[in-house]
Amino acid sequence: MLLCGLIFSTIWAVFSVHSVYGFIDQQPDYIKTCMIKQPRDIFINCSTHSVQGLFTEIPKGNPQIGLEILDPLKIPALKILQGGGGPVTVNASLSDVTILGFANTKILYNSVDPKTYDFYTKLFLPRLRIDGNYELLGRILVIPLRGKGVCWFDAQNLTINVKSDVIMEKHDGFHFFNVTQVHVDFSVGGLKLHMGNLFDGIKALEDSTNAYLNENWRPVAESLSPILSKTIEDIMLGILKTVFDNIPADYFLGDLGPYDEAEIPKVLLA
Ligand SMILES: *[C@@H]1O[C@H](CO)[C@@H](O)[C@H](O)[C@H]1NC(C)=O
Ligand SMILES: *[C@@H]1O[C@H](CO)[C@@H](O)[C@H](O)[C@H]1NC(C)=O
Ligand SMILES: *[C@@H]1O[C@H](CO)[C@@H](O)[C@H](O)[C@H]1NC(C)=O
Ligand SMILES: *[C@@H]1O[C@H](CO)[C@@H](O)[C@H](O)[C@H]1NC(C)=O
Repeated sequence: MLLCGLIFSTIWAVFSVHSVYGFIDQQPDYIKTCMIKQPRDIFINCSTHSVQGLFTEIPKGNPQIGLEILDPLKIPALKILQGGGGPVTVNASLSDVTILGFANTKILYNSVDPKTYDFYTKLFLPRLRIDGNYELLGRILVIPLRGKGVCWFDAQNLTINVKSDVIMEKHDGFHFFNVTQVHVDFSVGGLKLHMGNLFDGIKALEDSTNAYLNENWRPVAESLSPILSKTIEDIMLGILKTVFDNIPADYFLGDLGPYDEAEIPKVLLA
């Protein structure tokens, strides 16, 4: 689970090229439009289905907006440093990382604040599986860890609450959600993991350490929660920015009002 954290913390780099792509200027069929001025329960039901439609589509990747394939998500290399003090102190890196599971994201709830346009989203992932080569030096719970080899992490039933901070912007004749920050908390229903070649391949120590981490998966996951939340925030921000910088808000919210030409800076009209 620790290494899951690592992965996400550098995913931002994968998506940070988003701004060079042009935006989509026709309503895609996978986006259902909702009316934010409708009664809240009707709007929330509609926007939950709408965001589900989006999350069913985007894991396939979208070259039109420069979005990578998200399932499987491939990441060449990652690094993390987590200072001492807490229950986790680690230096770790991962390479040739593959993450499986985003295609099965279920949107349990989505609402949009009618004044700020911030989103509140609750997601469920039945399974998130990570495979890669790791290198690790550090401590989790009371266990000192040192190793270099193949690893996998397999999390079940992840529930993730996300608040996305948004600034509504207008340009090119459309409204856009500028997602500036995401805040994440999550819970996990189960975690299995394996780190091969721990302690220079001293087999008995490797086996007993892996067994201990698996038996204690809940405190292991809890101790890694700050790293994990931060890294899930980074991946979500990267994905949401790529999506919403390039897909106008008007396709999601049909009653934002007409685009007001008076708001176009004069210099652009000249
Ligand atoms: C919620 O939205 C879905 C999809 O638009 C619709 O089929 C369903 O009837 C709605 N449920 C309620 C309670 O409005
Ligand atoms: C992590 O790496 C840095 C720089 O390589 C080093 O200064 C630090 O002592 C390392 N920390 C641990 C816990 O290994
Ligand atoms: C989004 O808002 C931030 C903060 O105001 C700003 O720096 C950034 O340029 C905006 N991004 C886009 C794509 O408009
Ligand atoms: C995950 O959720 C499913 C459906 O609720 C349940 O059957 C399964 O036991 C759960 N698994 C874990 C590891 O929590």
